Amino acid sequence: MIKKAIIPAAGYGTRSLPITKVIPKEMFPINNKPSIQYVVEEAIAAGIDQILIVVSRSKNMIVDYFDDSLELEMFLQKANKSALLDKVKRPNIQIFYTRQAYAGGLGQAVRLGKEFVGNDPFAVMLPDDLIVGRGIKELIDVYEEKNSHVLGLTEVETERLQNYGVIQGSKVEQGLYEIRHIVEKPKQDPPSNLAVTGRYVFTPELMAALEKVVPDQTGEIQLTDGIQRLLAAGKCYGKVLTGQRFDIGSEKEYIDMQHMLFKQQRKDQH
Ligand code: UTP
Repeated sequence: MIKKAIIPAAGYGTRSLPITKVIPKEMFPINNKPSIQYVVEEAIAAGIDQILIVVSRSKNMIVDYFDDSLELEMFLQKANKSALLDKVKRPNIQIFYTRQAYAGGLGQAVRLGKEFVGNDPFAVMLPDDLIVGRGIKELIDVYEEKNSHVLGLTEVETERLQNYGVIQGSKVEQGLYEIRHIVEKPKQDPPSNLAVTGRYVFTPELMAALEKVVPDQTGEIQLTDGIQRLLAAGKCYGKVLTGQRFDIGSEKEYIDMQHMLFKQQRKDQH
């Protein structure tokens, strides 16, 4: 069983500047909840019971958000506002934090979780990719059957593939692939229309692979380089996520997600 997840949240959020100077992308509100809460709820629904959030100096707001607010809780209790009290209670999951001193790449952020994961397989969930659907649970189900690394995939239109890591692999069954190679941001001839999305399940071998990764030309340690090492050493699967994915670093998708949840809420009320 997968019980641990790492949520790297120490990036600069450059696409969403200037607001990300003071408000982390992970705290952008969607229906009065910060976006990172959707990811934490997705983890809880998948049976994960320990999370490590990688933060940075400017992300203390995330730590404060998931803390108890005793004064507020007492106020709501006295006022008999139990529905609101449920909303402000901290999520029922153990959350640990570590700090990444500077944004040295997603691979570096994940590697900070080495002691946290120990010898256990673990999930990595990127908090700027929100999945409306089962999300990480679908990858965990594959891991339990195959006992090997699993990457979340989404189908992307050809014109947009150049923004993603695109897989080359063979189909094992409907929605499941054995990955042979990942082509980063292909300018032409993408090997498929399946892009790697911010959900992963790894064995601790990933940590050993990341130790060997050298910084790229921008000075960052890339998670993809660690994954390429795993691909060279053994089996790695890709599971097409059935849920809808929203990249909240994209203004359009951030708004699209709010519209979608709003419509869904209206439908549920009727
Ligand atoms: P992104 O590259 O999508 O996010 O990283 P970013 O750098 O914050 O935003 P943009 O692209 O400049 O707008 C994916 C996730 O990995 C985390 C980010 O916080 C984000 O949730 N990350 C990235 C780290 O924790 N550390 C890093 O060094 C880089």
